[in-house]
Amino acid sequence: MKGSLIMQIIVADNYDSMSKRAANIIASQITLKPDSVLGLATGATPTGTYQELVRIYQEGRISFNDVVTFNLDEYYGLERVNEQSYWYYMYQHLFQHVDIKMENVYIPNGRAADVEAECRDYEEKISTRGGIDLQLLGIGRNGHIGFNEPDIQFEALTHLVKLDNETIEANSRFFSSIDEVPREAISMGIKTIMKSKKILLLASGEEKAKTVYRMLNHKITPELPASILQLHQAVTVILDKAAAALLVAATYKKL
Ligand code: GLP
Repeated sequence: MKGSLIMQIIVADNYDSMSKRAANIIASQITLKPDSVLGLATGATPTGTYQELVRIYQEGRISFNDVVTFNLDEYYGLERVNEQSYWYYMYQHLFQHVDIKMENVYIPNGRAADVEAECRDYEEKISTRGGIDLQLLGIGRNGHIGFNEPDIQFEALTHLVKLDNETIEANSRFFSSIDEVPREAISMGIKTIMKSKKILLLASGEEKAKTVYRMLNHKITPELPASILQLHQAVTVILDKAAAALLVAATYKKL
């Protein structure tokens, strides 16, 4: 593996085991720092993690009372109440089930009239809240993180992005037709993500195996946005066996 030697790679037996490991790491973060600032992700991958976090909360083992959250991204043009908005997703999968204060929840406003001001404001809020302690990430099939598509500028902060056709197609599984998938989104930039103190990236399924392999072995280039993570100081990657299929056994720690 090129780049960071401190990236921890964990291969879990399956999706459930990956989700439990991830939830335990987040729960531990909250336990050690009850007012943690969490960066959160959407997509199919983290739903099991949120489910497990809710379970841990329901058992009375953690509280979100002082937790602050910033989501990675939001589709541009969708209202919060749209079932495909990331706001709706977060509410359904996590926020409605735990004791988080909604004034501590931040997700880019996909209906902002002044997008530039919205992006600037989002960055300012992250700074005011002390920066992100732990950022959860999934990974797109094309190597995107958040909605930072290939060829993004690494130095970008929160900004409006144009979605790749591959992403539009991949995400169309959540919409009733591909025409309904928004073509733009507001996303934290790579620089925003890299400023997080810790990063936890999850990938599941064989369709991610090649992307994961490339993320860890490819040269660091905007063509593969996730490759930048090789340079972060504290990244944990949790994969299920299918997503880890192309990695050499020696490069990961077996559970
Ligand atoms: C979306 C999100 C990403 C997510 C990616 C992978 O495009 N913006 O944050 O990581 O899809 O999603 P999935 O977990 O459904 O494969």
